[in-house]
Amino acid sequence: MNLLPGPITALGYLIAAVCFILAIKGLSSPRTARRGNAIGAIGAALAVLIVLLSTDFEGSNLWIVLVTIAVGSAISVPVARRVALTNMPQLVALFNGIGGGAAALVGVIELAGLAAQADAGTSANEVATAVGIAIGALTFTGSIVTFLKLQGWITARPLVVPGARIWFIATVALTIGFAIAVAVSGQVWLGIVTLVAAAAFGVLLVLPVGGADVPIVISLLNATTGLAVIATGWAVDNVLLLVGGTLIGAAGTMLTLAMAKGMGRPVAGILFGALKGGSTSGSTEASDRPVRTATADDVAVTLAYARRVVVVPGYGLAVAQAQQTVSELVDVLRGRGVDAVYGIHPVAGRMPGHMNVLLAEANVGYDLLIEADDVNPGMPSTDVVVVVGANDVVNPAARTDPSAPIYGMPIIDAEAAGQVIFLKRSMRPGFAGIENELLFSPKTQLLFGDAKASLSAVLSALKDV
Ligand code: TAP
Repeated sequence: MNLLPGPITALGYLIAAVCFILAIKGLSSPRTARRGNAIGAIGAALAVLIVLLSTDFEGSNLWIVLVTIAVGSAISVPVARRVALTNMPQLVALFNGIGGGAAALVGVIELAGLAAQADAGTSANEVATAVGIAIGALTFTGSIVTFLKLQGWITARPLVVPGARIWFIATVALTIGFAIAVAVSGQVWLGIVTLVAAAAFGVLLVLPVGGADVPIVISLLNATTGLAVIATGWAVDNVLLLVGGTLIGAAGTMLTLAMAKGMGRPVAGILFGALKGGSTSGSTEASDRPVRTATADDVAVTLAYARRVVVVPGYGLAVAQAQQTVSELVDVLRGRGVDAVYGIHPVAGRMPGHMNVLLAEANVGYDLLIEADDVNPGMPSTDVVVVVGANDVVNPAARTDPSAPIYGMPIIDAEAAGQVIFLKRSMRPGFAGIENELLFSPKTQLLFGDAKASLSAVLSALKDV
């Protein structure tokens, strides 16, 4: 039922492409992110509608497509609505993997169509199809392994299987070899073998990545999804897939580089560090070394008489959903004349911009959010740093211990302030699974408990100071 004339289809694609570009622009700031997301969704819906209206479906194919869309929506909408903000990276990994898998399957089906043509053989289409199958399949399995790691269904630590390097090189060689064979011969069975080899490569690529590096891999796999979509767009001759794939590929690459910079690690080190014999350490065991503890009253007095306070939020703030309470505390302190601000680390929490999103929910003014690079020079003249549910982002091991998985990551220099107060529930380590010497420093005190309860207790104690 091709209901749309060509120029209208082209115009629709152009509008959808502009929506995607505006969406990415909007997502670059918390102020405009919601609008950007909505514009992207409108672009995607328009793209689907135009494909439906401009395609000649054979037989019952239209119904298969409609039922597939309905089933996919029925599953993904409630999942996306219900997911906690802290589990968002897993969801992104899963949806990303599905995109890569879809590109690989479209490639195999396209190959079957090309093979049926009389002049089957090497052409740009076969090359693009081979690339789409290989990259799509490795993105799919890589993303699934990432999902399993983040969900805690397999260990998040680097997993190096026996003979990992040989398996790794073998699957790379097989994937490239079979993909070339597909491009030359256009045989469907070779396409399926390429898919299997690339899928194995995807698993072996992500298994050795662990600890704090997993999110960077999600973003890298996002970029590879973009490449797979570009290849598929070329193969099925769809210009919108080319545009969308390019945007995904570029955005994923830029985010990967920005996150690697935030963690102070080269991307190659993140992917191949464990294979080259790097750290596979990491633990969730609580330390039993003695620490200085404080009560909510102690903390209230310390804060009330401080001139400058930096609050460093982390993953635990999200777990405790204490964004509103921490914002009240900072407001009360500022009302009393204390220069209280937030120190924001680029990879605090579990996703890029996690702390900005959380604090935006509590209507914290952007002028109070100071990036790590800008907050650090003022640390020696800061009286108190309050670390709320953060750990790795203030861990001095990033500077001092070359064997630590976070070694080289820029940190918020809490150690340089006059006093440090940690709000956490126990002596368990942070995401990277390593001890934090700052917890045992003579200038540090710990207020144990859920961050929300501790902050509320400090707030009420402040009334009596
Ligand atoms: P973490 O190092 O993971 O430390 C979080 C701390 O919060 C833990 O010490 C935990 O201690 C505490 N906590 C948890 N729930 C709490 C609650 N309800 N109340 C009070 N405290 C609570 O977090 P971070 O400092 O934000 O560092 C982020 C880490 O995650 C980095 O290693 C980073 O590389 C990695 N990472 C980042 C991202 C991105 S892109 N942001 C994505 C994935 C991973 P207790 O259990 O003792 O309470």
